[in-house]
Amino acid sequence: MRSALKLAKFVRPYWKWAALAPLLMLLEVIMDLMQPRLIQRIIDQGIQQLNMPLIVQTGLLMMGLAIVGAFGGASNGVFAVKTVQAFGADLREALFQKVQTLSFSNLDDLETGQLITRLTNDVTQVQEALQTLLRILIRAPLLLIGSLVMAIVTSPQLVFLPLVLMPLELVIVVLIVRRATPMFGRVQDQLDALNEVMQENLAGVRVVKAFVRGAYEEARFGRTNDELMARTIKVARTIVLAMPFMMITLNLGIAGVLWFGGVNVTQGNMEVGQIVAFANYLLTTLFSLVMVSMLVVQVARAEASAVRIDEVLESEAAIQDRPDALTELSPRGYVAFQSVTFSYNGGSDGDAVLKGVNLVAEPGQTVAILGSTGSGKSSLVHLLPRFYDVSEGRVTLDGIDVRDIDGATLRRSIGLAMQETVLFSGTIRDNIRYGRPDATDQEVIAAAQAAQAHDFIVALPEGYDTALGQRGVNLSGGQKQRIAIARALLLQPAVLILDDSTSSVDVETEARIQTALENLAGEHTCLMVAQRVSSVLNADKIVVLDGGRIVAEGTHDELMVASSIYREIYDSQLGNGVVNHG
Ligand SMILES: Nc1ncnc2c1ncn2[C@@H]1O[C@H](COP(=O)(O)OP(=O)(O)O)[C@@H](O)[C@H]1O
Ligand SMILES: [Mg+2]
Repeated sequence: MRSALKLAKFVRPYWKWAALAPLLMLLEVIMDLMQPRLIQRIIDQGIQQLNMPLIVQTGLLMMGLAIVGAFGGASNGVFAVKTVQAFGADLREALFQKVQTLSFSNLDDLETGQLITRLTNDVTQVQEALQTLLRILIRAPLLLIGSLVMAIVTSPQLVFLPLVLMPLELVIVVLIVRRATPMFGRVQDQLDALNEVMQENLAGVRVVKAFVRGAYEEARFGRTNDELMARTIKVARTIVLAMPFMMITLNLGIAGVLWFGGVNVTQGNMEVGQIVAFANYLLTTLFSLVMVSMLVVQVARAEASAVRIDEVLESEAAIQDRPDALTELSPRGYVAFQSVTFSYNGGSDGDAVLKGVNLVAEPGQTVAILGSTGSGKSSLVHLLPRFYDVSEGRVTLDGIDVRDIDGATLRRSIGLAMQETVLFSGTIRDNIRYGRPDATDQEVIAAAQAAQAHDFIVALPEGYDTALGQRGVNLSGGQKQRIAIARALLLQPAVLILDDSTSSVDVETEARIQTALENLAGEHTCLMVAQRVSSVLNADKIVVLDGGRIVAEGTHDELMVASSIYREIYDSQLGNGVVNHG
C-alpha cells in the first residue's frame, strides 16, 4: 500500500471530482437500501391485504427511487472517469519528465523496455484500481453496514446468519489475496521482458533479416510471450477461485434464510415479506463484502505497479547540479583532463576504463584522439559534458571543474556529434537546429555547408524540408553523420566533440569536412576521436589511447619520430599508400 499511497498526490489536483464521485454514489446506495423495505410493504400490506392502491403507490415510489439512484450512479461514473484519466495523464507526464532528468548511468540501469511498461501498463493498473476505488469506496462499506443494520432491524431473529457467513467470506478473501499479491509483480516483470524483446527487435529488425534470424527471434519472442501468458493465467486462476466460493456463501445465506425464516413463519413469529426483505439485505451485505474483496485484489495489483512507478519517480539522477553551480559561462574553450581515472561502476581502478589521463586542449586547438575500439576514447570525451563523473582527478573547462558548472550551461557550450548518430523524425532542417530551434535558415545552411551536407540536402526533392524517419526518406550512414556534425556546429560551441563522426563518410568528403573545420578553427576547440590516421594528420595534437592510458602524445611529425605505436598505426593504415577505410 505504501507506494500506492505515495501516488495519491497525483489525485490531489482533482480532489473535488474525486470527492464528488463517491458522494454521488451515496445517492445510489440510499436508494438501493430502501427498495427491500418497500417490497416488504407491497407483500405484507399490499398483496396480503389486497390493497391495490398501496401496491401501485409503492411501486411508483420504487421506480422513482431507482431513477434517482441511477442518476447518482451515472454521475459517479462521469466524475470517476475524469479523475482517473487526469490522474493517469499527470502521472505519465511526471514519469516522462523524470526520465528526461536522469543521467547516462541511470539509463544504463533502466532498460527501455522497463520504462515503456512503467509509463504505460503500470499506470493503467493503478488507474483501474483508482476507478474501482472511486466507484465502491463509499458504496461498498455503506451498503455493507447499511444492509446489515436493515437486516437486523427487519428480522432480529435471523441475525446469526450474517454473523456466521461474513467471517467465512473474509477468510476466503484473505487467503486468495495473500496468494495472488506476489504474482502481480511477476506479471509486470514479465511484461518488461516482453517489451524489451519487442523493442530490441523492432529497432534491429534489419539486422534480424540480414542474418536470417527471424525464426530465432520469433522463438525468443514466443517464449517470453508464453511465459507472460502463463504468469497471467496463474494469477487469474487464483482470483477466479474467489467467485465460486463467494457464490457458495451467498447460496448458503439464502438457504439459511428460507429454512430458519420458514420455521419462524410457521410458528407465527415472522411474515413472508419480512423474510424476502431480510434475504435481500443479507445478499446485499454478503455481496458488498465480495466487492470490497475485489477492491482489495485490485489494490494489491495496483500496489505491485505503484512500486515500479515509484522506483522511477524516486530514482535520483546520478549527476546533480550543485546548488551554487555556475550558470553564467562564456568559455574560451580551454579543456583540461587532470589525472583522470574513471570506471562505469564507480568502483576501484581495477576495472577503470581510463587511468591517470592528463590532457590539455588550448582554445582553438584541434586535439585528435586515436586508439583501438574499447581503448576508452568515447568514455574520455563523455566526461567533458559530464555524462558521467570522474572517479578520480578532474575535468575542467576554462579552468573550472565541470562539476561546478550547471549541467545545461555546460552542455550548451559543447557541440557533440556522438559515435552513434541519432536523428529524429521531422525535417532535415529541424534536425539540424535541434539544439537551437531559433537558428535562422542562413545559419542552418552555413552549418550544413561546413559539414559537407548542403550539397546532398539540396539535391533531395524537398531539400531542407525533406522529412526523415518513418514517413520520410532514409539517408546513408555518412549522410546522417554529416547532419549530426551540422547539428553540433550550429551551436557555435566553445568546444566541438566529434566522436568518430566521420567513420561512415568517404575519405574525400572527410578531407573537405576537415578543411571546413580548419577554416572555422580558432572559433572552437575540437576534440576529435578518430580511427583513421588520415583524419588526424593536421591536428594540433594527437594522443594515442591504449587500455585507458595515454601512450603517446604530440603532432604527427613528432609522433612519427618518437612513438613506435603511432608509427605502427600509421604504417598499417597509410604506410604502403593504401588508404584504410576503417
Ligand atoms: N555505458 C557503459 N557501461 C559500462 N561499460 C562501458 C560503457 N560504455 C563503454 N564501456 C566500456 O568501457 C570501455 C571503453 O569503451 P569506449 O570508451 O566506448 O571505447 P572506444 O570509444 O575507444 O571504443 C570498453 O571496455 C567498454 O566495454
Ligand atoms: Mg567510441
